[in-house]
Amino acid sequence: MRTYLVTGGAGFIGSNYIHYMFKKYGDDIRIINVDKLTYAGNLENLRDVENRDNYTFVRADICDSEAINKIFDENDIDRVVHFAAESHVDRSIRNPEVFVKTNVLGTLVMLNAAKAAWELEDGTFKADKKFLHVSTDEVYGSLENEGEYFYETTPYDPHSPYSASKASSDMLVKAYMDTYKFPANITNCSNNYGPYQFPEKLIPLIINNALNGRKLPVYGDGKNVRDWLYVEDHAKGIDMVQEQGRLFETYNIGGHNEKQNIEIIHIILDTLNEMLPDEDPRKAHINEELITYVEDRKGHDRRYAIAPDKIKAEIGWYPETMFAEGIKKTIKWYFEHEDWMANVTSGDYQKYYEEMYRK
Ligand code: NAD
Ligand code: DAU
Repeated sequence: MRTYLVTGGAGFIGSNYIHYMFKKYGDDIRIINVDKLTYAGNLENLRDVENRDNYTFVRADICDSEAINKIFDENDIDRVVHFAAESHVDRSIRNPEVFVKTNVLGTLVMLNAAKAAWELEDGTFKADKKFLHVSTDEVYGSLENEGEYFYETTPYDPHSPYSASKASSDMLVKAYMDTYKFPANITNCSNNYGPYQFPEKLIPLIINNALNGRKLPVYGDGKNVRDWLYVEDHAKGIDMVQEQGRLFETYNIGGHNEKQNIEIIHIILDTLNEMLPDEDPRKAHINEELITYVEDRKGHDRRYAIAPDKIKAEIGWYPETMFAEGIKKTIKWYFEHEDWMANVTSGDYQKYYEEMYRK
């Protein structure tokens, strides 16, 4: 049975990945989820799996090498899937330090711990051990012209403290692969959306604000373009890269689904109105009057667009969920999980750890 060490599994993509993996492999794998539970970590995301015999949660900071080494000492880890990071661009503009600490130093701690556990005396590595570093398309910078795409060969050109810290962490993984032949892969993915996304990010923020009749803030002219991917497709891509990809390679993962931010907001408003029953009182305020243009994000990247040609050609992965379907699934999930949103916005979700693990 393979044992996975997942970092940041209580966050948005990490928790969706854990759900995906248990759905796919059931009792044939074991997952240890290590998460510091920052503001972005929410154990309610994992309520459905927390009682499984093949799931363990460890609260720890990935910068704490003692805690991370202990996990490797006590368990024969076969796979590391490294999600843990500070992930929000706006926060990185206000407070870059924690991004460098977690994203760069934390990744170094993870690399060193895995290397120490997996390296043999002759400098080679134990068979079938693999590390996957989850990264972002933002490391490639900003595209200005239509028809241009990010490829694995596109030079790094990060602009925000967030993307600079992710680029640095990617470089460390590349250095470990080049220097030590450390068995790893890097994936660079476009914008994800779906269940369990923290409502500081565009899509859940717009859904939540619209349902509550609050303003919908649009940065700048609203014409910045992102390439949106349904989160389960990302989870599947990560697993496929780790099991079928060539070691030491980078794979871009993207939705082939470019949309301007303002288009996204219109789609959400239309979909909310379509999905809510006529008698729902919220329908009265869900309209374009909520849209409010605000000051632009500093250094705001204009356009991201991934070319997922390599992962498709080598591994056969492609984005399965069309945006029209994915956004409906996402909105339906938020409708059915009003408690989740209420707990996040009130801060009550942070009490869950105390209730579950410190009873
Ligand atoms: P998120 O902010 O929702 O979750 C991050 C998780 O990491 C949280 O559970 C948090 O508690 C944990 N964490 C933060 N600092 C930690 C530390 N020092 N030690 C241990 N745990 C810590 O992020 P996300 O959106 O799920 O992104 C996950 C990963 O995917 C990140 O590496 C991000 O760069 C990358 N990524 C995200 C997107 C996206 O659209 N969200 C796209 C491409 C890549
Ligand atoms: O591209 C992948 C990246 O996508 C990930 O690496 C990041 O972790 C993830 O946060 C995301 O970054 P973005 O900055 O693209 O996502 P965000 O949801 O913050 O913003 C999406 C776009 O919407 C961006 O152009 C800024 C704009 N925006 C955002 C918010 C929160 C608004 O116009 N208004 C808003 O209120």
